[in-house]
Amino acid sequence: MIRRKMVAGNWKMNKNLYETRDLLREMVPELKDITYVDIVVCPPFVGLGVAVRETADTPIQLGAQNLHWEASGAYTGETSPAMLVDLCRYVIIGHSERRAMFGETDVSVNKKVKAALQAGLLPIMCVGETLEENKAGLTAEVVSRMVREGLKDLTALQATDVIIAYEPVWAIGTGLAATPDGANAVHRDVIRPILREMFGQLVGNGMRILYGGSVTPANAAELFAQSDIDGGLVGGASLKTESFVAIVKAAL
Ligand code: 13P
Repeated sequence: MIRRKMVAGNWKMNKNLYETRDLLREMVPELKDITYVDIVVCPPFVGLGVAVRETADTPIQLGAQNLHWEASGAYTGETSPAMLVDLCRYVIIGHSERRAMFGETDVSVNKKVKAALQAGLLPIMCVGETLEENKAGLTAEVVSRMVREGLKDLTALQATDVIIAYEPVWAIGTGLAATPDGANAVHRDVIRPILREMFGQLVGNGMRILYGGSVTPANAAELFAQSDIDGGLVGGASLKTESFVAIVKAAL
């Protein structure tokens, strides 16, 4: 099963309008001829408009970092799927920072995944265990629950549009990436079998599972060479042209 690799940059709460424009103007010439990997950049909501302009007619695709599941209404401060489809193709859902700091749960993640798909957005759904859970030997249990609950009630056809990102919380922003073997074991032996069980062999084998957590130019190639690591969701290293481009190229 050949899966097209993806490298997505999660800018988190970084870069104002001008910085967004300048960073993309630096990245575009370096990435404009790369067609063998899906390249996604996820700036904050307010930067999406300028990002649309800067990435027009380039292979760089855009994503948002969150959304609300309702289509419109009295939800102060929220952004609906229908608003995002005009700006981007992907949306990160259930990032561990949102689960830890903004009260997101498997239930809200599932609502958001369904709403995104309904609107025609491709969800990048994040799952991953904390350090305590990891130490307690609960990785498989926690990740399985997040995958099952997050993708609950989806049809196999819908699932083909979902990308999973395994991001162990202890590896995010710490410089301590999971080992290629360790990450691949979770992808291959925990997540993929659940996808196959839920959506059938063909769909389960075709869905992409990204790794995230301290991905750098130094470890990207070895991570991406693993059987079930289909690319990366990159935080810190996606904020600089040199490191992001090097990681994209490592996905060859
Ligand atoms: P870092 O690459 O900075 O560890 O962040 C990973 C991440 O959370 C991407 O969503």
